[in-house]
Order: sequence, then C-alpha cells, then structure tokens
Amino acid sequence: MKAIEVRNKFLKFFEENGHKVIESAPLIPEDDSSVLFNIAGMQPLKPYLMGKKHPDGVRLTDYQKCLRTNDIEEVGDNNHLTYFEMLGNWSLGDYFKEESIQMTFDFLTKELGIPIEKLSVTVFAGDEDCERDDLTASCWKKAGILPDQIYYYGKEHNWWIAGEEGPCGSDTEIYYDTGKVACGHDCQPSCDCGKYVEIWNNVFMEFYKHKDGHYTKLNQHNVDTGLGLERITFILQGKETPFDTEIFKPVMDKLTELAANDILVSKRIVAEHMRASIMIISDGGKPSNVDRGYVLRKLIRRMVRHMNKLQISLDELSSLLELNIKTLSELYPALEGNKELIITTVIDEKNKFIQTLEKGKREFHKAVEKARKEDNSKIDGLVVFKLYETYGFPPELTKELAEEAGMMVDTKEFDVLFKQHQEKSRAGAGQKFKGGLSDASPETIAYHTATHLLNAALKVIVGPEVKQKGSNITSERMRFDFKCNHKLTNLEKQQVEDLVNKWIQEGLNVTMTEMSKDEALKSGAECVFIEKYPDVVKVYAIGDVSKEICGGPHVSNTSELGTFIIQKEEASSAGVRRIKAILRKE
Ligand code: ALA
Repeated sequence: MKAIEVRNKFLKFFEENGHKVIESAPLIPEDDSSVLFNIAGMQPLKPYLMGKKHPDGVRLTDYQKCLRTNDIEEVGDNNHLTYFEMLGNWSLGDYFKEESIQMTFDFLTKELGIPIEKLSVTVFAGDEDCERDDLTASCWKKAGILPDQIYYYGKEHNWWIAGEEGPCGSDTEIYYDTGKVACGHDCQPSCDCGKYVEIWNNVFMEFYKHKDGHYTKLNQHNVDTGLGLERITFILQGKETPFDTEIFKPVMDKLTELAANDILVSKRIVAEHMRASIMIISDGGKPSNVDRGYVLRKLIRRMVRHMNKLQISLDELSSLLELNIKTLSELYPALEGNKELIITTVIDEKNKFIQTLEKGKREFHKAVEKARKEDNSKIDGLVVFKLYETYGFPPELTKELAEEAGMMVDTKEFDVLFKQHQEKSRAGAGQKFKGGLSDASPETIAYHTATHLLNAALKVIVGPEVKQKGSNITSERMRFDFKCNHKLTNLEKQQVEDLVNKWIQEGLNVTMTEMSKDEALKSGAECVFIEKYPDVVKVYAIGDVSKEICGGPHVSNTSELGTFIIQKEEASSAGVRRIKAILRKE
C-alpha cells in the first residue's frame, strides 16, 4: 500500500467513525511561539484540548506536517526523520480510552491487516501524579492483545506532553515487531535495538502541567493520537526503512546513480534533509541565523556537505530538487506551485555556504598549522567558536575536518563559549523591545521599516487616532498591534496595503537624526514607549510620510522592501487589532 493510500484509508476510517476531517496546519505554527515547527498533530489543536469549542465538533481527524529537530544527528539510521507526517484522531471531551483503543485496534488489524501477534503495546505503570492505567490494559486484552504483549512503563515512556508546560496525560504506545532477532532475553518495546518500531501513540489528555511542575485536571478528558505515516508505510510494504518506500526511493536511487561511492548514511541524510527543506520553504521558511531559519540553514548545509561526501556535483542539486518535489507532490500537490521558490532558496543558500566554506577552511588550516607548530593535537574551542561566529562554520564540520587532519577539538571550551554567546544574543533581543526584533538580519530590518510604513498608512486610511501598541518581527513575517475600536473593512485593508506599496515603489529615503527627546517630540515624531528611551534619541524619517523615535536599524531606501502583503487582520485584545503581514521579494 502506498503512503497516500494509507493516509486516505485512515481519514476515511475515522470519518466513518464520526470524525470530521480537518485541514493540516502549516509546518510553521501561526500563533504558538513555544515551538519553531509543529511537532505533533495536537499542536494546532492545543486551545481545543483545553476547552475551547472547535467549530468542527468534538471528533476530529487529519494528517499533520511535523518537524522535530532534536534527533537531527540521528538521521541516517533506519528510523529517524526530521520531517514526518502524523496521522491523528482526536476526541475533545468526547470518547475516551475504550473507544479510542478499539478504533486503533480495528484500524491496524482490520483495515491494514496487521496480524495481532505482530503488535505489542505499552501502558502507563502509575505514579504519584496518576494511577496505573489498568483500564487501558484491559481494553487491549478485550480487543485481543495477549497479556504478554502488554508492557508497563513510567512517565519516561508512557506520558506525553509537548514541551514543558501544557495539556498532557498518560499514553499507550503501539509497537510493531519487525521479526528481527531479539537483542537479548530482556528485549522489549522500550529497547532501541530495532526489533520493535513504535507506530502509534494514543494520549489520554486529562491533565495540565503547570510551569512549576504541578499537575491539575483539565475540565475535559481528551484523546490525542499520532500514527507516523512513513513508519506505517514501510512496515506495510515489508520494507526495512522509510527510505525504501516510494516516499524516498526515486531520490535514493538517483543519488546512488550519481554518487562516486556507496555511503548509505550520507544518501539518507541528503534525501531526508532535502525533503525537510522543501517542506519548510514551501510553508514560508527562509534560511537565516536564528530560530527556524537556522534549522533550515543547518538542514541545507548538512545536505550539501553530504553531497560532497558522496562526490556528487552540486550542479545536480537543482534536478535532484525537481525530482524530490515531483516525488512528494503525490502527498503534497501544493509543492509543485512553489517549485521555483524552493529551488531558488536552496540554491542561494548552497552558494552562500560554499563561500563560507572556502573562507572558513582557510582559517581552519591556519589554526591546524599553528597547533602543529605548538605540538598540540587539539584545536582550541575558541578557534571553533570564531569559525562559527564569523563564518557561520558549523562546529560539527570543524570537528569532522579536524578528525580528517588527525586532530581533536576542544568541545568543552566551545560549548562554554557557545552558551555565553546564546545568552548574550538573548539579552540583546530583549533590549530591542521597540521593534520586537529577534535578530537583525536583512529580513528583519526590512520588516522593521515596513512597520513604520504600516503605522503611517493606518493613520492616513483609518484615522489619526490609530496608535501603535506593539510589534513582533521575525525574518519571515511581521505582526503589528494597534489601538483601534473596529475591525478593518476589506476596503480599508486594501487601501492600507496599497498605500504602503505605493511608498515602497516611490523609493523613499530613510534618514536618521539624533536629537533630544523633547526636541523629537516637538518635531512631531511618533513614539511608542517614550519612558523607555534615553534623553538623546534617534529619529527615523521615511521621506515625509513617517517620523518615529526608534532604535533602528532600518533599510536606507524603501525600494529595498519588496511587496507588502497583509495576510490577516484580527482582534488582539479589547480595543487592540493585530495585522499580520509579509514582504515578498520578487
Ligand atoms: N501527540 C502524540 C505524539 O506526538 C500523539 O506522540
């Protein structure tokens, strides 16, 4: 059975069991800053698991695009993927353990035809927060699972929460026995020898974990399940890994054809990271040095490095991407429409990386020579850190190069420096309160300038009483909150967008003058948080359409901004509206 058929079968089965099929949310969460990417099907449903009414009812099902980066270094083995698709079904205060387990069992054994003896399940063993889940065990037995196929574990295995705080509960996991020889007489589903593959997880979400670690009961009991599409597909096809299924095979075969050697791990890394990058870019991600942009950058750079290891010419990248997009478009037809954007983004990033590599390598060799002269077999952590900070040279690459040169690196020292660096940049981001800038990449700087234009346009179109309340900027989008007592009409939104674009097209100069705070205010400069500014302030003027007290930085001319597009206008809090917008560079 192909992956698309498994997905369709799943959605149909749950639809027939009273669930409404809902759309997959984008990979990049819209309103949840707790994660960089959706990591599970429940992520976009969090508010509903906590009691908010879902417009489509209390039984939902979907397939969700997910990305988990904690295992990025593991990619290359039989199982690990960064991007994956999670099939899920939810009860929002409706059915609970019995019905959920029966449906899971029926789908696996009747719809997919998996023999019962191939399945094992794990159940929560109980602790001071929540009792042993005997009901779940008895439901499994009733369904036909033998007692010796049921294993009990504590929170480390059978408890599920996204992050540190939020809705959570005990879970029951379903494992498939691959038939491989057990690694020892103690081999169990919890073992990672590869005999057992986890395929499905049913979480009984009835608790909320608070920041301080204590649990309270939610007002409703929910079921949240997740079945990994790539895993169930390779199992049903009798294959060993997802790389052997139609999801990856065409790309894997092409890599084999192009490679000068047969490093399987590198082929898997290239295929996997390429697929993940395609999915991220298609959902609006761009490479950068922070947050999700950095994840994308890391994926692309690792992919390039492993293409180098396979000795595949980087000129093949574009046709490999085309093939990968074509392969994936059976599951995600929208990818074809974003083909150009995906290819250009990856190729641009590859080019940047090549330049970085050259410069970094020169520095690296200097450091090796120096260490050798000093009869030292270890390269300083400081050198590794400088290569990272100055050239964006990934530390894992420095380590690899060092190994090739028969040297070691002082990772401890690097880790300390890296931690300090992260703390410093976090503190820096906190100080940039006005623009809500999380970094100062060219993208965020452009968005920052766009907030000034938006602020000015709102005053012209909606009225001078509009007052900025805040903003939040990433390298991919901007949010702008402003005081206003009504929802903007479609006409107002259009006029605001048009006016901002008109100013962009006019190529207005952005100038900065330093003056005293009083003088600035007298000159009519806008100011959001006057008390937070020092006595001497910077005033940024854009042509004669905007003048604001602001710390900057800004672009020097509005023509650098691209096209301004309002994506959403919504309530933020009482009397405050929020606009979400993007800049599109053609
Ligand atoms: N949210 C659960 C998981 O991701 C289903 O495993």
